[in-house]
Amino acid sequence: MPTGNLPVGIVSTGISLPEKILTNNELEKMVDTSDEWIRTRTGIAERRMIDETMATSDLAVRAGEMALANAGLTPGDVDLIIVATVTPDMYFPSTACLVQEKIGASKAAAFDISAGCTGFIYALAVGSQFVKTGMYETVLVIGAEALSRVIDWSDRNTCVLFGDAAGAVVLRPVEQGAGILAVELGSDGSGADLLKLNAVGSPGYRLSGSAEENDRTGIADYLQMAGSEVFKFAVRIMGECAAGVVSRAGLTDRDINIFIPHQANIRIIRAAAKRLKLPDEKVYVNVAKYGNTSSASIPVALHEALLEGKINKGDNIVLVGFGAGLTWGAAVVKWAV
Ligand code: ACO
Repeated sequence: MPTGNLPVGIVSTGISLPEKILTNNELEKMVDTSDEWIRTRTGIAERRMIDETMATSDLAVRAGEMALANAGLTPGDVDLIIVATVTPDMYFPSTACLVQEKIGASKAAAFDISAGCTGFIYALAVGSQFVKTGMYETVLVIGAEALSRVIDWSDRNTCVLFGDAAGAVVLRPVEQGAGILAVELGSDGSGADLLKLNAVGSPGYRLSGSAEENDRTGIADYLQMAGSEVFKFAVRIMGECAAGVVSRAGLTDRDINIFIPHQANIRIIRAAAKRLKLPDEKVYVNVAKYGNTSSASIPVALHEALLEGKINKGDNIVLVGFGAGLTWGAAVVKWAV
């Protein structure tokens, strides 16, 4: 049995974004909102939407295949696939099993993680343990979401915020002193009602309930959110959690080269960056292009930051997320490749 404490890092990334773009101007025609309101309150200008022929697993497959190719690996090298998602293709089997079959990762174990928008950080934390112990050498971690499928498109409070995407990373052993230096995870189930999507286990759940029926009964099969409560929680927890993980890694604010937060709202990101005393150039933001893509947002942002040349070998990266649960999580990664 493996007993090691191997350094583990992210050795490559990949993404998948649906082609269809939904702009704020198009949303103005659907609900009582404005481009100006959305931009100033959220920082979002447009988001991507999956088409009716695609599934979350299709987005996950494309992101996963890109991450493997970027690492110079094949699906046959993968020991474990973890998909973080709140919009799986099915309740069961897991989306990770569908990905395993579609990419042909014949030796890989596979399972999903549900931790709201913190799902990617949770999956990173779990996946890294398998490499750290030496049990597995190659773990594919994917955050994939088709949130457009669970949005009430008549609710302006939520429909302007979310988008569809997938992002993936490959975890492998790296050189001593590099890789994932620290991780912090947390949850507070007393906030479960603040952001939710009911499922078949809820009492009284009816799969075919209309939006009106669901409103009347309090049961819904679309995303429900108490926006301002989530906002207050997010502003507090993003700063706290990021500061906590930086200190756990034995670093200070000055050691952070780039901060890659969950992309939900520019005001939340700015508040967290302020708490860490980070200048704008150290904070990666792409929320304008994609909105909140839940579990996909951090790996998509990481991939784009790399493409833009914002990350170099040896850099300390802080990843931090929050979401339904309530959940939160952060990681410090010393870039190893
Ligand atoms: N267009 C125009 N007006 C709107 C819109 C819209 N799209 N949405 C809400 N409003 C109105 C509200 O109805 C309200 O009007 P009222 O005062 O007449 O009642 C007014 O704007 C202000 O609403 P607030 O909720 O106070 O606006 P706020 O500045 O808090 O912004 C927002 C709302 C953007 C939802 C913010 O609260 C937020 O970002 N919350 C966090 C959301 C989030 O990140 N969720 C995801 C968590 S991660 C996961 O696990 C999925």
